[in-house]
Amino acid sequence: MNMKSSIGSFILILTALHLHAEDGHNLWLRGKSTGSVNIVCARSSSTLSIAKQELEQGWQGKDEATVVLAIKKDKAIKGDGFKLTTNGIQANTEPGILYGVYELLRRQQTGQSIQEVISNPSYERRILNHWDNPDGSIERGYAGLSIFWRKGENGYAVTENDKILWRKYARANASIGINGAVLNNVNASPLMLTAECLEKVKAIADVLRPYGIKTYLSVKFSSPSLIGGLKTSDPLDPDVINWWKTRVKEIYRLIPDFGGFLIKANSEGQPGPQDFGRTHADGANMMADAFKPYGGIVMWRAFVYSPNSTDRACQAYNEFMPLDGQFRDNVIIQVKNGPVDFQPREPFSPLFGAMKKTSVMAELQITQEYLGHSIHLVYLAPMWEEFLKSETWQEGTGSIVARTTDGSLFPQKHTAIAGVANIGLDANWCGHHFAQANWYAFGRLAWNNQLTSEKIADEWIRLTFSKAPASNDWNEYFLAPVKQVMLESREAAVNYMMPLGFHHIFAPQDHYGPGPWWGPQGVRKDWTPPYYHQADTAGVGFDRTTKGSDAVSQYHEPLNSLFNDPETCPEIHLLWFHHLSWDYKMKSGQTLWDEICYHYDKGVQQVRQFQKVWDKAEPYVDAERFSAVQSKLRNQSRNAQIWKDGCLLYFQQFSKMPIPYDIERPMNDLDYIIKNFTKDRP
Ligand code: GCU
Repeated sequence: MNMKSSIGSFILILTALHLHAEDGHNLWLRGKSTGSVNIVCARSSSTLSIAKQELEQGWQGKDEATVVLAIKKDKAIKGDGFKLTTNGIQANTEPGILYGVYELLRRQQTGQSIQEVISNPSYERRILNHWDNPDGSIERGYAGLSIFWRKGENGYAVTENDKILWRKYARANASIGINGAVLNNVNASPLMLTAECLEKVKAIADVLRPYGIKTYLSVKFSSPSLIGGLKTSDPLDPDVINWWKTRVKEIYRLIPDFGGFLIKANSEGQPGPQDFGRTHADGANMMADAFKPYGGIVMWRAFVYSPNSTDRACQAYNEFMPLDGQFRDNVIIQVKNGPVDFQPREPFSPLFGAMKKTSVMAELQITQEYLGHSIHLVYLAPMWEEFLKSETWQEGTGSIVARTTDGSLFPQKHTAIAGVANIGLDANWCGHHFAQANWYAFGRLAWNNQLTSEKIADEWIRLTFSKAPASNDWNEYFLAPVKQVMLESREAAVNYMMPLGFHHIFAPQDHYGPGPWWGPQGVRKDWTPPYYHQADTAGVGFDRTTKGSDAVSQYHEPLNSLFNDPETCPEIHLLWFHHLSWDYKMKSGQTLWDEICYHYDKGVQQVRQFQKVWDKAEPYVDAERFSAVQSKLRNQSRNAQIWKDGCLLYFQQFSKMPIPYDIERPMNDLDYIIKNFTKDRP
């Protein structure tokens, strides 16, 4: 063999290796057919073609079986729900058939039985919120640049590769029931409503449509004056009203099934109706009227807080409750799960269940802004399950958050749930292989808000990692321990970051490492951790009792009283609601200080345990994903140590008590951590 041909074969081998390298791009969609299937379907459409193709590609049932796909009205099937029958799938709509196909394949691929069952979605709209900017950057994105937008002269051009990627994205979403995507950041650029941008939105919508996915946009409230040449953006001004009507009409000309707008107004410096002396209802209703003729909706965010409020946690409730009943029926108020901001743990926002005459939807954050970005392995479903199952007491027992938003408690005209996406151009889409599980879990919970995080993790691991039909060995040495890691991972993060009700003690700006010490002069107090932890020599925690900010009163009895008393307040929320002395006696009999120390230490130990489990799982996973996750876990372990050392050494200055001698000593000096892990920017 001459030199040239040997280089040639070397390159060929490399290319082949590369093609087979496991980069995680295929997500949970790996099932290959093991036999043939005959599909009977009386109709044809692009959605039904996808359904048929999926069945052919992924069929693992009886060889030569016949599957009937039937669109036939059935009162028991709601919206895009479906019925699995012994010989096929029945649904009211085409997306319903597609969801049924994905469910059937999922059952085959995860070894679940296939019996006759009806599955209806918990929410009419199951939406990803992308915080993507027109220049391709992503706010709080940790998986590369935007899959939709890019910088540069040809930024709005649409290539074949774009369409291929969007199709894969749409397929992944449809496979878990997601049926909507807000394509841009809530801190919206006015550019979104320009003609060239809307052309691109149309191109994206055309690719997503066959998968049953509607597109939505975030818009800037001051667009009429910023790009429309108007003198004002006052929502009651006739020219402004007309301007929005014309824009909406234009959008529907391009995208007949457009979903609607998502709006962040009068929040973190964004413009809104209050700039003109109007209310959130005035602003939202004006836009909702523009959407009425087309069936579109307005999702109006309740994420509001201001620098002079004594307790940020109270503000959304204070601003929105007086407006209950004043919103049009095509407005949905989008409320973050907790009253502050996507913290590792918060009690649920008191707006859930309290707003009885307005449609309310939950906003979850899939991207791990406050949970270790794409470095920490944190499976978020347990957090969402805890939230959805929280008892609000608003209509007696059983008024859990899930029911206050899914229409089963209040007659909401529209129901929806949103998740802030963790998707970018990284080959594995989400930065961390395990972060894919959070995208998956969001979709599955949006479809069925009763699912357990255990069931979702089980499905996801089987679909994502099993190469062949699962063996006993694989179940015992991979599935079970890895699932355990996932299920424990959120509590571990709470332990090493902010246990017992601590919140927002992050380093500023990037919200990654610890920063309880950060509070420079002149910075808004509610942007600094000392505002949230209130540590002094007398004690620690935010007093939200009736003697403090009175946030407890925003909850329905008996929660109000339970939260108000440190003896009955769940310890997981203790420092959220109470300022207590360092030697306060906990249920365990230990002092508060000792308990804080043990929690931080436990978090570190948990991550070390995750490392052991993963290392042992090596024989059961491909080399690429194995080493990628191994390396991330090492980083997470180092970070957990920094969190523990930083927080304990910092708070010890106030508690003046020793770190219990039976736990490991800090390994880093406080000065070193402050210098290296705090960026001095808000
Ligand atoms: C957080 C986040 C911001 C985001 C905001 C929002 O504060 O840090 O980046 O814009 O939430 O949800 O609007």
